[in-house]
Amino acid sequence: MQRVEDSTIDEARDGMFLPLRRALHGEPKSRKLTSEGGVVWLTGLSGSGKSTLASAAAKALSAHGMRSAVLDGDILRRGLNSDLNFSACDRHESVRRAAEVASMLANEGLIAIVALISPLVQMRAHAREIIGDRFREIYVKAQLSRCEAADVKGLYAKARRGEIAGFTGISAPYEAPLDADLVLDTDAQTVGQCVSALASYVELQFVASWDTRGRSEWNGFRSINEA
Ligand SMILES: Nc1ncnc2c1ncn2[C@@H]1O[C@H](COP(=O)(O)OP(=O)(O)OP(=O)(O)O)[C@@H](O)[C@H]1O
Ligand SMILES: [Mg+2]
Repeated sequence: MQRVEDSTIDEARDGMFLPLRRALHGEPKSRKLTSEGGVVWLTGLSGSGKSTLASAAAKALSAHGMRSAVLDGDILRRGLNSDLNFSACDRHESVRRAAEVASMLANEGLIAIVALISPLVQMRAHAREIIGDRFREIYVKAQLSRCEAADVKGLYAKARRGEIAGFTGISAPYEAPLDADLVLDTDAQTVGQCVSALASYVELQFVASWDTRGRSEWNGFRSINEA
């Protein structure tokens, strides 16, 4: 069984749907879920937590028997998008490519977890257009001041020194979603709480059926969680 870090599991435990909780705590994988395939598109500032949450959510879903794939902006930039720069035009193109790949993955029944700044409303609207009704916009919300203070990659400091042109939040705009399907507030919530919220959301949105259980029991789990 793949595991997310123990501390993350502990944090994620409260409020998590019972089946996911059981999976994370070592139940056999025999209770596989059948996913209809879908795309959760994580947008947010650099350093807001997209990659952290995408990879932890993928592990949590895998532990639950759900197939997922992460499309991370940094990794895409090293391969598929290595010919692109950070101009508005190339950023649009990088979003388009990620959306096309995510759509293919969803068609194969996977949950595609996209972690891409995708700063403009119009870019995300284009992704939604490509992917269709399997697209869910997830706003990974964090104050610019917190992202800049942590400056995990040292990019904010470089951008402030003028060494990076068009850096989102500093010298290029970030348009926060106004009507995201789900908001993960990484300033206010722990990694575990955000992963729990995301994984539970994916289950609710995209799980088609249980292999070994009926839909009624799934409804039962929902009411446990909602109680
Ligand atoms: N609740 C939280 N959720 C996610 N990350 C958090 C949270 N609280 C603190 N962090 C920390 O914030 C940082 C987020 O970095 P991460 O690389 O995931 O951001 P990102 O959005 O992928 O940035 P980029 O767009 O530059 O790739 C990590 O160091 C992570 O540990
Ligand atoms: Mg990242």
